[in-house]
Amino acid sequence: MPHFPEGFIWGTSTSSFQIEGAWDKGGKGPSIWDAFCRIPGRVHQGDTGEIACDHYHRYPEDIARMAEMGLKHYRFSISWPRIQPDGKGKPNPEGIRFYSELIDRLLAHGITPWVTLYHWDLPLALQMEDDGWLNPDIATYFRRYAEICFEAFGDRVKHWITLNEPWVVAILGYGQGTFAPGRISNREPYVVGHHLLRAHAEAVDCYRTQFQARQGGRIGITNNADWREPLTDSAEDKAAAERALEFFLGWFADPVYRGDYPAVMRERLGERLPTFSEAEKVKLTGSSDFFGLNHYTTSYAAQAQPGDDLYAGIYGNGGLSEDQAVKLSADPTWEKTSMGWTIVPWGCRKLLQWIDARYGRPEIIITENGCAFDDVVEDGAVHDQRRIDFARGYISACHEAIAAGVNLSGYFLWSFMDNFEWASGYSKRFGLHHVDFATGTRTPKDSAHWYARVIRENGW
Ligand code: GAL
Repeated sequence: MPHFPEGFIWGTSTSSFQIEGAWDKGGKGPSIWDAFCRIPGRVHQGDTGEIACDHYHRYPEDIARMAEMGLKHYRFSISWPRIQPDGKGKPNPEGIRFYSELIDRLLAHGITPWVTLYHWDLPLALQMEDDGWLNPDIATYFRRYAEICFEAFGDRVKHWITLNEPWVVAILGYGQGTFAPGRISNREPYVVGHHLLRAHAEAVDCYRTQFQARQGGRIGITNNADWREPLTDSAEDKAAAERALEFFLGWFADPVYRGDYPAVMRERLGERLPTFSEAEKVKLTGSSDFFGLNHYTTSYAAQAQPGDDLYAGIYGNGGLSEDQAVKLSADPTWEKTSMGWTIVPWGCRKLLQWIDARYGRPEIIITENGCAFDDVVEDGAVHDQRRIDFARGYISACHEAIAAGVNLSGYFLWSFMDNFEWASGYSKRFGLHHVDFATGTRTPKDSAHWYARVIRENGW
């Protein structure tokens, strides 16, 4: 493994709904994912987050495992309905206490907390009574929720992420309907995306005006993006790949770094794409102290031709492809994970370079990268060589990007342990630790030992 610059941040990531369980304990209100899981057919085999990894009760032992690995940075999310059961009311003291103890224990083990405020588990009441992210008022509710968190935890938390992957919330939640709240529309995703961005800007404004000077932390947003490689050298395919990236990542990163949506989205979407007021543009511009990036896979992009089935691609993750007129495909020689996602490390390097160029060399932190494979436990071990190969390939690509001048300062592997993988339930395993969901037993995989060595060999 090549040596990384001094101070490079190595971590792992999780999220509240995926690991905590205790869905109705400690005064927590239900979230849209609690409800979504109970709709027949929405989640693989009817799996729910009722217990998940039971991290809510077992966090001391999980943190001990992190310490054993020599982990120094850990990204987790706060469940909004644990803090405000209905999304608006007074803070729930038991919820505050849970995260407070989690944070204290991490710090006591020398592990720095990186906290995401929203990783998709919206309080159900906000969905039912207020139409969730479709309602412009949600920016105000989110600001208040964020304020409660800064107030309660900001003395100890110095790394904040407002939103995890707004693209997924908008496209999978309101466009394709495969994630909560399960709506299908070609208009709503752009409205939802708009209010997610407004909410992000409000939370950042709250932090910067009320807390940042005294607490001394940093705050940013995490976006997800695949790489889009032009299928051929034709000008049309090159333009298609560029357009696909702007619809994917530019949608959420342009407003934050350049004050407005990409021109190509405006041209193609017309009135379906809402507009920001001047005051909103001001709040959005520069509203991230670092560029949080979740990256998993790559596909080819080509100019769509009449009659193309745009959703017959590799895993249908192109967004609303008809709005982009982009046809995705995969090279048959590319290996795939058990999600069906292609393994293309050089796509990671190219994406990092694209971000570097488009946004003026921002500090980038990969807040998620990883892979799912079907693991086998043999004599108390999991020999997941493919996961090691995947991580080695992508981490090497990160190193190449740094060598080429990209300002990448951290890498978080998804995930610390196997967990609830959204619509796939417990059927997909991304973790460095194997979890037996019937008994709760955790078993470190070979990849956990390997990653511990990467951290150790880089010396911090
Ligand atoms: C991301 C998401 C994570 C995790 C991962 C693997 O999109 O933020 O929660 O599920 O994908 O699918």
